[in-house]
Amino acid sequence: MSDQARIDLDGQGFEAEVFEGTEGERAVDISNLRANTGLVTYDPGFGNTGAVKSDITFINGEEAILRHRGYSIEELSEHSTFIETSYLLIYGELPTAEQLEGFRNNITRHTLLREDMKPFFDAFPPDAHPMAILSAATSALSTFYQDHYDPNDPHDVEVSTYRLMAKLPTVAAFAYKRGIGQPYIYPRNDLDYVENFLHMLFAVPAEPYDLDPDVVTALRTLLILHADHEQNCSASTVRLVASSQSNMFAAISAGIGALWGPLHGGANQRVVEMLEEMRDSEESTERFIERAKDKDDPFRLSGFGHRVYKNYDPRAAIIKNKANQVIHKLTGDDPLFEIAAKLEETVLSDDYFIERRLYPNVDFYSGLVYRAMGIPVKMFPVLFALGRLPGWIAQFREMNIDPDKRIGRPRQIYTGPPLRSYVPVDQRA
Ligand code: ACO
Repeated sequence: MSDQARIDLDGQGFEAEVFEGTEGERAVDISNLRANTGLVTYDPGFGNTGAVKSDITFINGEEAILRHRGYSIEELSEHSTFIETSYLLIYGELPTAEQLEGFRNNITRHTLLREDMKPFFDAFPPDAHPMAILSAATSALSTFYQDHYDPNDPHDVEVSTYRLMAKLPTVAAFAYKRGIGQPYIYPRNDLDYVENFLHMLFAVPAEPYDLDPDVVTALRTLLILHADHEQNCSASTVRLVASSQSNMFAAISAGIGALWGPLHGGANQRVVEMLEEMRDSEESTERFIERAKDKDDPFRLSGFGHRVYKNYDPRAAIIKNKANQVIHKLTGDDPLFEIAAKLEETVLSDDYFIERRLYPNVDFYSGLVYRAMGIPVKMFPVLFALGRLPGWIAQFREMNIDPDKRIGRPRQIYTGPPLRSYVPVDQRA
């Protein structure tokens, strides 16, 4: 028999079932609360609301645990590839050699964009933010596949999965090339996923491009570290859009928009801009920290704090371990890394941050690694999006077959004016 929670109000009792996830988190099922009591729950930012049951990713923010389908992020980032981790997220199990080969082939064979999509990129101003292009192009891609994006048709869902995994790196690279005025570089099927993306990003037709194995390894690790993070802002956006039975392109385009914000995936861009400002400023690092603590100053330390992690973000710990080596190997010593390390040390011993349990998050060191690879700052959130893509796809697919699925539609508590009479314009004060 399951446990029951009880709400007592106005002399009436309401019993709600309490159930437990596989890692012991307990939840009160309040789905009938309003029907039985007239009450709704109020939870701004959904900090306390479990909107789904999910088998994909487990996070324990107090103990800095992140696992995908039961496998720790430490093991996956050490031993897996991005494509294998994507398969795991999307299908639930690590693939056999044959399954992995099939998945890889299906992705490799969908990397080209339709030629009639190319003028689309030319229409953006050269300084367009590449996240805007990525989001717009993802939505626009659907127009080429209108007969094959039905979210209720398993074959369409499968083909949309390949198309998105395959084409988004091409879109991202084209967005970058558009911004710097270089010719678009077509995908190469002899390269793996990460190599092919780097090739499309950095090659020019005039000379051969040599892939640096350190850059390939660093990017592979970063993509794995970003691959999913359960019901974060962008994944929840993907689910909310998909809950109205929109297609996968539309849902992921919206997810990219959610990721773009500086409180989410845009933070990696902000971190590097902040460190550059600290480097160039007359003011001390301590002064920036004071500003971050001042409630009258909107400035926050980007790359610190997390809704779920009240401990060191395990992804940040992995990146930090590798960042110094990679940066040193690729560019020599980076003064921004020194500033970041000093900032972290100061923050971690400051009472304000200790009391609020604010630690470095995934974005704190990732931008420095992207920068060492020669990737421009505006592209950082785009790289986050490419990493997060398999997670969004997995969340979309899981929701699609969830028997508890309903259109996402939160309630509100109305606080505006009560009923009043319409006043004609000439009689208004
Ligand atoms: N700098 C200074 N103070 C901070 C910071 C920060 N980076 N983050 C949180 N705080 C403070 C808040 O002011 C608040 O203080 P108070 O209790 O005195 O009012 C307290 O810590 C709790 O913060 P909230 O904003 O309520 O926490 P929430 O869970 O809503 O927000 C968020 C989490 C958005 C990540 C926040 O920590 C933040 O803005 N961080 C900086 C942006 C960033 O790095 N985002 C990337 C997140 S990771 C990701 O999306 C991949």
